[in-house]
Formats: sequence, C-alpha cells, structure tokens
Amino acid sequence: MDFKQQFLADVISGLSQPLKKLSSKYFYDEKGDRIFQEIMHLEEYYLPEAEMEILISHSTKLVEGFDYELFDVVELGAGDGSKTIFLLERLKALGRNFIYCPLDISPDVLETNAGLMKNRMPDLTVKPVPGDYFKTLSKIDQSIPKIILFMGSNIGNFENGADVDFLKKIKANMLPGDILLVGIDLKKNPKTILRAYNDSKGVTKRFNMNLLERINRELGANFDLDSFDHYPTYNPLSGTTYSFLVSMKKQVVQTEVSQKYNLEEIEALGRQSGFAKVRHLLDSKSRFSVSVFE
Ligand code: AVJ
Repeated sequence: MDFKQQFLADVISGLSQPLKKLSSKYFYDEKGDRIFQEIMHLEEYYLPEAEMEILISHSTKLVEGFDYELFDVVELGAGDGSKTIFLLERLKALGRNFIYCPLDISPDVLETNAGLMKNRMPDLTVKPVPGDYFKTLSKIDQSIPKIILFMGSNIGNFENGADVDFLKKIKANMLPGDILLVGIDLKKNPKTILRAYNDSKGVTKRFNMNLLERINRELGANFDLDSFDHYPTYNPLSGTTYSFLVSMKKQVVQTEVSQKYNLEEIEALGRQSGFAKVRHLLDSKSRFSVSVFE
C-alpha cells in the first residue's frame, strides 16, 4: 500500500468506529510541520523549554558512566535538530567524540538538520538516515556503542501499553552498555497541562483542524471546517490529554493522546520493557524529565 492508500484506509477505519479517531501521525504534512513549529514557540507550550533546560544543565549527568572513546548519537524522529544541537554542543565541550545519526521519516527535515549541524558544528560527522525509524534503527552500525535519543515527549502519543511495546522494540536494537534517553512530560497542575493544549492564540486548534483540511486536500473529502470546534481535555486521574474535534452537526473525532507520567510510572515502564535501571534528570520546575534507560 502506498502512503495515500494507507492514509485513506486509516481515515475510513478510524471514522467508522463508534468513537471516531484519527491518528496523530497524520498531523505532520508540510503545513502541520509549520504549525507544530509555531506551537513549540508558544509560551503556554512549556515542553520544549523544560526539556532544553535539562539538556543544557544536566548534560554531564545524562551521559554519566557512558565513557566510550567513540560512539553514535542516534536520534529517533530527529526533526530539524534545533534542540538536540544544545546537547551535542555540550558533549563536544566535554571532549566527547561521536557521530550524529538523525533518523526521520522526512528527508526534507533531515536536510535542514544536517545543514544546521554543518553550520554550527562543522567538525561533526553527521549520518542522516531517512525512513521509518523502526526499519532504519536496525540498520545502524552496531560496532560502536550508542546513545539513542527519543525526545520531545513523543512517547506520550502511544496509547495504553503501546509505550512499553515501543521501548521493548528499541531495547531489542540495543547492546549492553548502550543507553536510551527519553524526554517525558510529567504530571503536574492540570491547568498548566490543559493550557499547553488549549493555547490562547488558537495555534493548537489550527494544528488539529489541519488534519481535516488534509483529508479534504489529499483524499478529496468535504468536511465543512467551519462547523468544527477544537476541544482539548486533560484527566488528572489518568494523566491523559485527549484532543477532540467536535462537529456542531453530527460526529466527534478524537485526534490525539498526550500521556503524562510520574517518576514511578516511568520506572515501571523501564522494568516492563526489560531495562536494568532508569535515572531521571528534571528541569528546575519539575515539569519534565529526560529519563536515562540503561
Ligand atoms: C509532539 C506529540 C509531543 O503531544 O505534546 C503539541 C504534539 N499536540 N500540541 C504533544 C502536540 C498538540 C506533541 N508531541
């Protein structure tokens, strides 16, 4: 099945269910990528700032005990690398010697990524790998140790139990001594979380609406966009943010799950996925963790 057929099949099956759903992976076409960049710059969307603070201020601790002469830094869903570069620059300043392998589904974004690295870290060897990172991860050179990065709390998009399956798959591609760094948004004041998904400028609404626009554009559908509203929710008991598109006419569509964790839950994830040890590095307001799975 090519991409368009898969997209169509997923839309049809998702919207045929009694509780209608669309996968958040379809947010990210060219327009969606641009809107997501806007979200990352919103004051209310605190995740990037919190994560960046950890990468900068705890870089030494993040790689503590990982003392190899030469290693790979393999980033899953690397994007443009604009946050990762802060960690890479710190590793370089610590005198560490490594190769950067950004993995991403989008060749365009990998080009941007490599361009940024060439500009800011001209001596760094960059080996971009386009494609689905589960397929490409298994092709990574296993002859040198590696740090795998999975940043941005992307892990929150997996629904019930899929987070463990995901970590197990990654672990299957790790050798003893390799480490995995995962950026994870933490449970906190529900108002802070809800605001992050219900911003005052309506950028997140545009981000969600783009999914329907994309179905209109690429699959020739005719959703009446003006009759939809965006309804984000956060349930402090489950720690789950659900985003909905509510039709003022007939149906309701769930578009995204963004799971939040506490440290005990992250440790349980590590145990269930077969990791020996999990350490946490938090930002100064304890909003976010970059957890090291060893
Ligand atoms: C990129 C999946 C981490 O769930 O917070 C941002 C996407 N959705 N605002 C998230 C998103 C609405 C984001 N992730």
